[in-house]
Amino acid sequence: MWPDYRIQNLLGIELPIIQAPMAGAVSSEMVIAVSEAGALGSLPCAMLTPDQIRTELGIIRQRTDRPINVNFFCHRPPRADPARMAAWKQRLEPYYVELGLDPKAPVPEATRAPFDSAMCDLVVEFAPEVVSFHFGLPERGLLERVRATGAKILCSATSVDEARWLESEGCDAIIAQGAEAGGHRGVFLTEDISTQAGTMALVPQVVDAVQVPVIAAGGIADARGIVAAFALGAAAVQIGTAYLFCPEATVGPAHRTALRSSQDNGTALTNVFTGRPARSLMNRLVREVGPMSDLAPEFPLAAGAIAPLRSKAEAAGSGDFTPLWSGQAASLGRELSAGELTQQLARDALAKLPGGPAFRP
Ligand SMILES: Cc1cc2nc3c(=O)[nH]c(=O)nc-3n(C[C@H](O)[C@H](O)[C@H](O)COP(=O)(O)O)c2cc1C
Repeated sequence: MWPDYRIQNLLGIELPIIQAPMAGAVSSEMVIAVSEAGALGSLPCAMLTPDQIRTELGIIRQRTDRPINVNFFCHRPPRADPARMAAWKQRLEPYYVELGLDPKAPVPEATRAPFDSAMCDLVVEFAPEVVSFHFGLPERGLLERVRATGAKILCSATSVDEARWLESEGCDAIIAQGAEAGGHRGVFLTEDISTQAGTMALVPQVVDAVQVPVIAAGGIADARGIVAAFALGAAAVQIGTAYLFCPEATVGPAHRTALRSSQDNGTALTNVFTGRPARSLMNRLVREVGPMSDLAPEFPLAAGAIAPLRSKAEAAGSGDFTPLWSGQAASLGRELSAGELTQQLARDALAKLPGGPAFRP
């Protein structure tokens, strides 16, 4: 028995586990495997074009009829700031020279787009059972179109204020994202990340502040974390980093190697990869230019000038310029398939929960 069935009942799933949407690291293969295992597979769309989203959703709908989550970013589109961009390129110039790249060559466009009407059309067409957002919610008209499809709406909150605001806007459940979490902070009501609470402190305070079920995220990578999340009042967990170890994760060799040797003190919050604070394993770029840099252009523009460095370094087998997104509990990761990991997490958590088969007080 699980201590709480609100999320299973709300989303139509068997297990209170959500595989975190992870832009650039998750494709249809993982979503299908996790949803088939009884948890909620999540397709991240922030780095996909509408055509790619259509292809991925087509594959998923062909191979599973289980509920799925489709996830989008809701950041404000950046304003062009040529002076800041020039300063950023100047800061990176020594690396361009070192790697034999032309610092004057135009840099690629940023590749993370906020939820818009074309993406909303795809939500209407494919009617995913769950739609989740990161960095706040889309404007009312788009949100109402999503709601009208019948999808349950989730969004990340990194503070009690954000959770209350999301509830007042009609979110069906709230993902309380503690500071341990890998990837971008979902923060949207403040720019100050020095005050971001950890999962242990955040979850019970959000649980007390809202009526809707709360999903704990950040640093949960094994059954102990799942049991702790329930003890804090969460009704489910959203797990990211642990799924990066699965063969289905679309992370490159540099990222995989870094994850394998990760330690508790191996990550930092950094804005150098995209312009927004995100948790990554430390590498050369984070150490030398960050972890936080005032020069990094607004999200997601900072990523453009990093891209050539990243490609060149990766081609030579180096992760010096790769965003190595990871939460603080990466060293707990196990290399299992996504379906096996989901089942093992559920089995081990049930065994530790009161009333579970192997529970000993
Ligand atoms: C590689 C990576 C990419 C991520 N991309 C997204 C994303 O596209 N959308 C989103 O809502 N959250 C994203 N996140 C954050 C996760 O939803 C979640 O908050 C986090 O993984 C939980 O912490 P954990 O990594 O310690 O399990 C990402 C996290 C990682 C590690």
